Amino acid sequence: MTFKERQPRDKGVITENRLLELHLYPGNQCNRDCSFCTVFGSPKGWYREYTAEHLDAVLQTVRLDDQGAIKFYGGEPTLDHENVIWAIAYLRQHQYQGAIVIYSNGIQSERLLQILESDPLGKTTASLNYSIATGDGAPPMPQKALEQLEAYEQNHPQSIAIGHPDVVDSGRGIDPFTGEASRPKANSRCPHCYPVLTTEGKFHACPFAIENQALHFQLGSTNSDTSEVLQNFQEFFRWLDTVHEPYASTHNLPACTVCWKHLDQLPMPSYASHLRSDQGN
Ligand SMILES: C[S@@+](CC[C@H](N)C(=O)[O-])C[C@H]1O[C@@H](n2cnc3c(N)ncnc32)[C@H](O)[C@@H]1O
Ligand code: SF4
Ligand code: SF4
Repeated sequence: MTFKERQPRDKGVITENRLLELHLYPGNQCNRDCSFCTVFGSPKGWYREYTAEHLDAVLQTVRLDDQGAIKFYGGEPTLDHENVIWAIAYLRQHQYQGAIVIYSNGIQSERLLQILESDPLGKTTASLNYSIATGDGAPPMPQKALEQLEAYEQNHPQSIAIGHPDVVDSGRGIDPFTGEASRPKANSRCPHCYPVLTTEGKFHACPFAIENQALHFQLGSTNSDTSEVLQNFQEFFRWLDTVHEPYASTHNLPACTVCWKHLDQLPMPSYASHLRSDQGN
């Protein structure tokens, strides 16, 4: 395999009131509908494009220096590649120096490469869907697209990585998955991902559970103070370690299954904004 896996960086890092990493989510519209998809991706999914208002909130929340990372996912980012190219240009025009990662199924390889090439700093890379790149668990991408992406990676090493093979129980999740039986599926500990800002203006605690509307995940909105969103994100991690993980271990459940099917058994994290609205009722 030409493409290599990337290693995750430190979790939950906040410096000077900014996150080390942030995921951006414009909806679950996609040109595929993978049986395992954590976001319920489909051609009938929802989509809302990136706007200056959304990106201004991103620029308030993530580290702007070369340590920062902004991760575009979905849905499928190549469906509206012009808007993604515009968003990258906007971020660069507004002093963002960090890495940009595009999560893509690679089927529209030409468009994906146009996105990578558009970055004036040359620091936009891609991460491919493992199942669609290998054909294990989903129909493979067209051979021509795969060859084009492999050739690009060979000429531009480390510009296109491959995602992890793990399948977690979130969204469509594990049950319908038809891939190789030996692929890892269950992990009792949450991977402690960085949060998401959706183009609907909501900060959500987990990119895997983004279509889960439970209040446990709602960290705030673009109208909230950044410090409150970050405080809520830290509280979510405390809740994961002190409430969620003990429940998963006691009941011998994979971590994401607890979020997907057992949240009604667990108390809410103590979020500043939720506490205030509770008091107001
Ligand atoms: C939701 S997709 C969106 C971007 C793009 N459509 C793609 O497939 O890469 C982002 C990543 O999530 C991964 N993913 C989807 N469902 C998953 C699941 N149930 N468990 C683990 N990873 C999953 C995909 O393989 C992909 O690497
Ligand atoms: S995993 Fe990616 S390609 Fe597959 S349906 Fe979900 S969003 Fe689409
Ligand atoms: S355990 Fe919950 S918070 Fe952690 S990755 Fe899974 S769904 Fe997200």
